[in-house]
Amino acid sequence: PGNIADAPVTTPSAAGAATPSPAASATGTATQATAGAPGIGDPDFPTDGNGGYDVARYRLKLDYDPGTEHLKGTAVLEARTLQSLSRFNLDLSGLKVESVAVNDRAARFTRSGTELTVIPATPLASGTDFTVRVAYSGTPEPIRDADDLGVYGFIRTSDGAFVTCEPNGAKTWFPGNDHPADKARFEFEITVPEGLVVLANGEQVGEPRTSGGKTTFVWREDHPMATYLATMTLGEFVLKEGKTPGGIRNLAATDPKFRRSLNKVYDLSAKITDYWSTVFGDYPFSSTGGVVDDFATGYALENQTKPMYGGFHPDEGIIAHELAHQWFGNSVSIKRWRDLWLNEGFATYAEWLWNEHTGKGTAEAAFNGYYQTEDDPMWAYPPGRARPGDLFNNSVYTRGAMTLHALRQRVGDPAFFKILRTWAEERKYGHGTTDDFVALAERLSGKELDSLFDVWLFQPERPADW
Ligand code: ARG
Ligand code: ZN
Repeated sequence: PGNIADAPVTTPSAAGAATPSPAASATGTATQATAGAPGIGDPDFPTDGNGGYDVARYRLKLDYDPGTEHLKGTAVLEARTLQSLSRFNLDLSGLKVESVAVNDRAARFTRSGTELTVIPATPLASGTDFTVRVAYSGTPEPIRDADDLGVYGFIRTSDGAFVTCEPNGAKTWFPGNDHPADKARFEFEITVPEGLVVLANGEQVGEPRTSGGKTTFVWREDHPMATYLATMTLGEFVLKEGKTPGGIRNLAATDPKFRRSLNKVYDLSAKITDYWSTVFGDYPFSSTGGVVDDFATGYALENQTKPMYGGFHPDEGIIAHELAHQWFGNSVSIKRWRDLWLNEGFATYAEWLWNEHTGKGTAEAAFNGYYQTEDDPMWAYPPGRARPGDLFNNSVYTRGAMTLHALRQRVGDPAFFKILRTWAEERKYGHGTTDDFVALAERLSGKELDSLFDVWLFQPERPADW
């Protein structure tokens, strides 16, 4: 993160009411401390994420009561400055900020839209570690109907919440650097009324502790995670826990209404995670599984270690898709949303690979079927540049997958699968761009692939030759 221009301290940030801090001596030089930018530098989502720092860890200590719909707690961010900072921003949507402290000293703050600007008592020097503690409370509201994205973020359900935040809904429940360019580790300490279950990412630490009618669940995700993949889905759930035949911890959970899917989600998640481990390389995280909640139909998200399915009984196609995202999207993440085909094209291609593996039709047949439809709207939408107003267009999924199939046809199976495995291995827990992927494909295949990727990813028409 942080490839943003330094803004001088006198430049107004998103916080109109903030006053400039005095010249910094903290850097040990005579230069002024600079304000962190209100966005991380994504040209299509200019206020998403923030500039000037990199979060290493979020520690979220939260209490939520579905009866009152009230969330209350603290978020502690352990971060490092990438420039001197007279002030910096966090993303937060709604909710009331009670106090902010930087390095345990009270800090001033202002709010404007979804930008929370923090003004530490003394500026922070470049390249130093710092902590921010935000105490906050209120009723989280999901983001609704922004640019065809539907409802996402902290979504209330009849018995709790279904927390699925892609692309930028993490800010509906915790303050942070809400953009996949800044991944961090997470700790969750979440208290709910006794009888409810909290499902967050990674592994549960110890047994839930109950006292005074409330139960606290501690979860920890020790691998870097994009903010949109963080969850604290809660409510009534039935659980099934164990290990996959390949030895990976596996947890399935369903709302009681979806209990008949419990064994199926458990078994298929196990089988598919193990299979992807043979195709894409070792599973990058500590556990796998799936969560089915009672919410509006048709929404799924690849939450890290715990894909979530909202309001339907998932079939193996979508389970194969969400689990493929653990490699493509979650372990190897995008730096800018326009590169989303690197997530969705790959996960869609994985559905075709799963069909191929289970004898339900080849990727070639899927490719040919889509290619034949000359008037498909995806031909007008180049998937290599996902649009902010229509991010999850079918082209990003289907034409993105077709791009991979065109690559496979050109380079042959051994090189193609080596490219996928190498992509996952070399960029494990990090990031990759479309240019990085093209360069890797050329390096491993020894072929010049510019025109193939150009016609498949960047031209607003159905490719004719490549
Ligand atoms: N990544 C998800 C999937 O492909 C889709 C998320 C869509 N997000 C949204 N706000 N509509 O399964
Ligand atoms: Zn997907």
